[in-house]
Amino acid sequence: MLLSAVFLALFAPSVWAQSSVIDAYVASESPIAKASMLANIGPSGSKSSGAFSGIVIASPSTENPDYLYTWTRDSALTFQTIIDQFTLGFDTTLRGEIDNYVGAQAIVQQISNPSGDITTGGLGEPKFYVNETAFTGPWGRPQRDGPALRSTALITWANYLLSEGNTSYVTDTLWPIIENDLNYVSSNWNQSTYDLWEEIFSSSFFSTAVQHRALRQGTTLARAIGQTSFASSYGNQADFLLCFLQSYWNPTGYMTANTGGGRSGIDANSVLASIHTFDAAAGCDAITFQPCSDVALLNLFTYVNAFRNTYEINSGISTNEAVLTGRYPEDVYMGGNPWYLTTLAVAEQLYDSLIVWNSQGSLDVTNISLPFFKQFDSTITAGTYTSSSPEFSTLTAAVKTFSDGFVALVAKYTPSSGGLAEQISRSNGAPVSAVDLTWSYASALTAFDARAGVIPGSWGAQGLSLNCGGVPVAQTVSVTFNVDASTLEGQNVYLTGAVDALEDWSTDNAILLSSANYPTWSVTVNLPGSTEVQYKYIKKDGSGTVTWESDPNMEITTPANGTYATNDTWR
Ligand SMILES: *[C@@H]1O[C@H](CO)[C@@H](O)[C@H](O)[C@H]1NC(C)=O
Ligand SMILES: *[C@@H]1O[C@H](CO)[C@@H](O)[C@H](O)[C@H]1NC(C)=O
Ligand SMILES: *[C@@H]1O[C@H](CO)[C@@H](O)[C@H](O)[C@H]1NC(C)=O
Ligand SMILES: *[C@@H]1O[C@H](CO)[C@@H](O)[C@H](O)[C@H]1NC(C)=O
Ligand SMILES: *[C@@H]1O[C@H](CO)[C@@H](O)[C@H](O)[C@H]1NC(C)=O
Ligand SMILES: *[C@@H]1O[C@H](CO)[C@@H](O)[C@H](O)[C@H]1NC(C)=O
Repeated sequence: MLLSAVFLALFAPSVWAQSSVIDAYVASESPIAKASMLANIGPSGSKSSGAFSGIVIASPSTENPDYLYTWTRDSALTFQTIIDQFTLGFDTTLRGEIDNYVGAQAIVQQISNPSGDITTGGLGEPKFYVNETAFTGPWGRPQRDGPALRSTALITWANYLLSEGNTSYVTDTLWPIIENDLNYVSSNWNQSTYDLWEEIFSSSFFSTAVQHRALRQGTTLARAIGQTSFASSYGNQADFLLCFLQSYWNPTGYMTANTGGGRSGIDANSVLASIHTFDAAAGCDAITFQPCSDVALLNLFTYVNAFRNTYEINSGISTNEAVLTGRYPEDVYMGGNPWYLTTLAVAEQLYDSLIVWNSQGSLDVTNISLPFFKQFDSTITAGTYTSSSPEFSTLTAAVKTFSDGFVALVAKYTPSSGGLAEQISRSNGAPVSAVDLTWSYASALTAFDARAGVIPGSWGAQGLSLNCGGVPVAQTVSVTFNVDASTLEGQNVYLTGAVDALEDWSTDNAILLSSANYPTWSVTVNLPGSTEVQYKYIKKDGSGTVTWESDPNMEITTPANGTYATNDTWR
């Protein structure tokens, strides 16, 4: 793991005034954000409202809106922040919190819920009650970014423990949890998902980007602990994901957030994807949408400008200065307001960019990123500017001032308590919606760290290239297994077979079928497309006695896409 930190120095006198205001805000807000984030984590956080050990609440708010739940996404992003703070050596008191999170996620993964159980899609369930029970009301489900973000946080932790020589905890405790999530990502990334704002069911850039990162990191971890067959299958799927990631680009200058939904597609989704897949070792690579890549800078330019005329509170601000930003310009939730975490994400993307430009000692302006840089120097032309050039000094100083401007606005609209809600009123700047939003605090901490030049661990984005030509994307297909089987009192029918999704012939983990249409037993499973799959049904009774069907094995070839159903009879 890369533990180095770069501390940026600023010399241009014009930026001192604003910079020192931000320095003061960061100094006062950092401890508040840290304490307030931890206050929302059970069992002992002062606002955790009965949350079980290691469970992160989204906010203590219980009405308008009721956020007293634990979301897999928000929790993982929060614990990514905590794990980074611990593993980078900034706060060694956090180990107990991390152990609690690991324990909680091992339990949460196993909760049957409306998305399924652990073998049938339940890992895509977005939120649970804080007492580790399923929320069964209507919701935008599944959300397939959660398992990716959780595995990424836990892989960061695993990598640290491996470097400490604590291999047995990684293989015995962490890997089984990580493997569940990565297998889910590996076999479901090509299925539609609700986006991170829980509104649109389609493909979503943020989800694809974090899924790609998870499988890349998973490949390296699996190899490091000798799980070579997982390493190769995650690696293959990561290659497909990287190809798919490119398809979201809208040549008018932004990443389309969602393939459905009927909006412009200009959305904080893409800025959040960039900062949460930052890998300084990958420089300004465009294929992984690194913060300083030309596509990510043009995307940021398009995204920020979409809010200049959207909110009254941004009126009168010149076109090259920071404004408050929200989720997407068409947003109407709670009146459609700027958010703390989206405005901070803009600053973080730019701070990440400065880290890379300063460390590589040069900055590229391409014909794609030209509109972004022209905000700061209308005469700039495409080219490579090394750190000794006046253009490099001018542009990096201007980007620093611009990024500090976003933090300055967040500072301006932070109440004197330092508490960060979800939103900022579009008309008068007052806090709106859920108070003490855990994700708002986590986003402040990661933005402040990026401003200080902190470099999070590398995840393997360096040196990747696209290999998309002629490679068929492995689709998964939904297969319903129906079998007519008479059973004795206390006996149930299960499915097991020759692929991971059918539990690799395990009888202990075999998949339970439903007897709702007895004597027909059924279950639906996602399997790789265009693949020969062997399987068998088994019966198990209350004492665990297993009865197998007679030979030979059953076999199907799954279709390339779509769905498939068997009509079997017990043999
Ligand atoms: C868990 O919390 C929910 C929501 O507060 C509540 O309805 C449910 O009864 C609790 N379940 C258990 C087992 O305590
Ligand atoms: C390994 O890490 C776990 C989790 O923090 C800890 O409980 C355990 O004591 C560690 N083992 C060793 C040998 O350090
Ligand atoms: C699945 O992958 C293909 C090929 O990349 C892509 O065209 C399609 O939109 C994807 N579908 C979903 C739901 O992700
Ligand atoms: C941008 O530059 C690339 C190569 O550097 C070139 O292929 C492309 O045509 C240029 N696009 C425009 C709009 O100038
Ligand atoms: C589904 O598979 C069929 C048969 O291989 C193929 O012709 C068709 O193009 C596929 N459709 C999609 C949407 O991938
Ligand atoms: C099973 O039965 C359903 C409904 O009759 C039919 O649509 C499907 O094609 C059958 N599957 C096979 C593999 O024959």
